[in-house]
Amino acid sequence: MRRKLAAGNWKMNGLAASLAELETLAQAPAPHQTDRMICPPATLLARAVNVAGEITIGGQDCHPQPSGAHTGDVSAAMLADAGATAVIVGHSERRADHHETDADIRAKAEAAWAAGLTAVICLGESLAQREAEETLSVIAAQLEASTPDGATGTNTVIAYEPIWAIGTGLVPSLDQIAEVHDAMRAQLVARFGATEGKAMRLLYGGSVKPDNAADIFATSNVDGALVGGASLKAADFQAIIDALDAA
Ligand code: PGA
Repeated sequence: MRRKLAAGNWKMNGLAASLAELETLAQAPAPHQTDRMICPPATLLARAVNVAGEITIGGQDCHPQPSGAHTGDVSAAMLADAGATAVIVGHSERRADHHETDADIRAKAEAAWAAGLTAVICLGESLAQREAEETLSVIAAQLEASTPDGATGTNTVIAYEPIWAIGTGLVPSLDQIAEVHDAMRAQLVARFGATEGKAMRLLYGGSVKPDNAADIFATSNVDGALVGGASLKAADFQAIIDALDAA
């Protein structure tokens, strides 16, 4: 059985005072079947680790190289050194704002593994692709090209995040989520074998809120969520954790 995962991505939000939200989450009783992760901005990583208790701390991006002349970038080794145990790679905001390709994301995932981090690899179609009925082919191509050989249930988490659902309040139908998640599961089993392909956790992301979480978590092959806006407030994220743990 896969353990569930509630992952929060704070994006470019959070000052030292925001760590109080993480402390509140850390003080809540541990869920039974759900792992929790918060990905704060890099500036807060080390301080977040100090208050996170059993909550995993992750980075939001990493450079493919372990060190070097790359002003402003952060390597996976640096994230690990700060106490992170995971990193998001290929978020659609990185793909769009920084022109990251599937090949870049694959290299970042390999860098994450080399530093001992779990890679949370993000995929998602645009609204135009959804309307053109290209979703399944777009996701299959991204999953194939962004996921390195050697992916396992331990070193890799996949997050399906329709771009048009992120930060918009729009959510695909449960049938649409199930269609994509079932297809991703089949593709991972075909490529990595039944053991690892079934062990990899598949998260849904895009406007997950306390009031829609239970329905999304009851959907086929949804093992948890990658949550943006609703991860910034402890009460909202705790409600999502509780819904996932009860699903
Ligand atoms: P959102 O963001 O929950 O604010 O829609 C999701 C994400 O980008 O991971």
